[in-house]
Amino acid sequence: MADESYSFVVVSNRLPVDRVVDEAGNASWKQSPGGLVTALEPVMRAADGAWVGWAGQADLDLEPFDNAGIRIVPVPLSESDLELYYEGFSNDTLWPLYHDVIAQPSYHREWWERYVQVNRRFAEAVAGVSAPGATVWVQDYQLQLVPAMLREARPDLLIGFFNHIPFPAYGLYSQLPWRLQIIDGLLGADVVGFQRVADAGNFSRAVRRLRGYTTKSPVIEVPGVDDAPARRVIAKPFPISIDVAGFQELASRPEVQERARQIREDLGNPKTIMLGVDRLDYTKGITHRLKAFGELLADGSLSVEDVTLVQVATPSRERVESYRQLRDEIELAVGRINGDYGTISHQAISYLHHGFPREEMAALYLAADVMLVTALRDGMNLVAKEYVAARSDEDGVLILSEFAGASDELRAALLVNPHDIDGLKDTILRAIDMPRHERRKRMHSLRKKVAENDVSHWSDSFLATLRRARRTRAAWGGS
Ligand code: ADP
Ligand code: G6P
Repeated sequence: MADESYSFVVVSNRLPVDRVVDEAGNASWKQSPGGLVTALEPVMRAADGAWVGWAGQADLDLEPFDNAGIRIVPVPLSESDLELYYEGFSNDTLWPLYHDVIAQPSYHREWWERYVQVNRRFAEAVAGVSAPGATVWVQDYQLQLVPAMLREARPDLLIGFFNHIPFPAYGLYSQLPWRLQIIDGLLGADVVGFQRVADAGNFSRAVRRLRGYTTKSPVIEVPGVDDAPARRVIAKPFPISIDVAGFQELASRPEVQERARQIREDLGNPKTIMLGVDRLDYTKGITHRLKAFGELLADGSLSVEDVTLVQVATPSRERVESYRQLRDEIELAVGRINGDYGTISHQAISYLHHGFPREEMAALYLAADVMLVTALRDGMNLVAKEYVAARSDEDGVLILSEFAGASDELRAALLVNPHDIDGLKDTILRAIDMPRHERRKRMHSLRKKVAENDVSHWSDSFLATLRRARRTRAAWGGS
């Protein structure tokens, strides 16, 4: 029996904080990268519960602890777990497959076997800290087997699953040698949430094709087998968001606004600052963006005296080969563009390959006249929402890929197909030349949209759907 138990438990591969050790050997905690943590951290700070996950370093066996008002329950992962389960199956099989095979997924049985084992370990850790009848919310593609494993071990639990990344169309999903096991894993949940309507539809189609279960959106009828009773699973979209008020407050601080002015000045006060903020990931379309910008400089449509691109490319998954190659490719392109078009006083691209405090991110958003989100595929893209939330001056232009989940909501952005380089170039020019009244009108409408669905709305509606599932289960005679 665990020393502590909780009636609300969130589990994700990555905890909100990573343990880092400096050169002198001193350990400290820093916020982890990525949208999952950005979204869930404020939810968990407001909730009374525990967050189960990995602390970002191999072979760390830590006792549960509190961090910034959140109870943290670490799950240790060994060096070989990281290689096979995290870098291998999660980030070199599922990630490329679920992002429409932008990079080629690798299928290795050894990786799969470790994925199963590590998912079991996470499920056991959750079962160990969950009070009777607790609500457990499982997060993302790294843990898709956890719902069924938990249901088997602890049928008393109410289980939700949310997929932060896209769920691919059946034609692609069916490549996965373990497609049935993953579907069965997810169907262990009472509610399976997705970012977009299309993702929920792709999942339900996969269930029909692979299992032949009856689906009538949003309900999937899972028949009973042996001891397990027939159940209903809800599969539907819950578009994720950010802590809008928190981000707005951050961006309104005088020191952040001053820092934004300073950034503009440090960049030589160009007429236009364009900004990209992405984990260094092939799904983000950073090379497409650089290509478009490079061509605009080459054909004389833009000059470095007038326009600077700030590209923040956050280090990510650096031991996975495709990420290593991408970094080389990006840095080569940045070096070429700066070499070809930069002057002593003006650099074309200011390239930053490191993490920043949230205050600095907010200042960058405030300094940017044009925000470039050119993802080739993205579950949601919270950077787009952060940019909008920061701009209470109702200025700034958002260029947004139609392949990012955020484009379902943020229709007032300039929507682009990032594969169409000429189209992207035209859109960049349009953004730079957009008159103030149109910028204001679009930003006003974007801000309205973002304010309507902040992250507490997202978590409240997911958890309300879960509670309804509990009542339905009770009405059917379940626990
Ligand atoms: P993903 O989850 O794929 O990384 P999102 O756009 O949904 O993409 O979320 C990225 C999150 O990470 C945002 O909250 C963004 O502000 C944050 N972020 C990205 N780069 C950095 C960085 N260099 N320093 C600090 N935060 C960053
Ligand atoms: C995306 C994924 C998250 C992941 C994050 C950072 O947001 O949906 O599950 O945590 O990227 O990636 P990492 O591999 O560093 O955890």
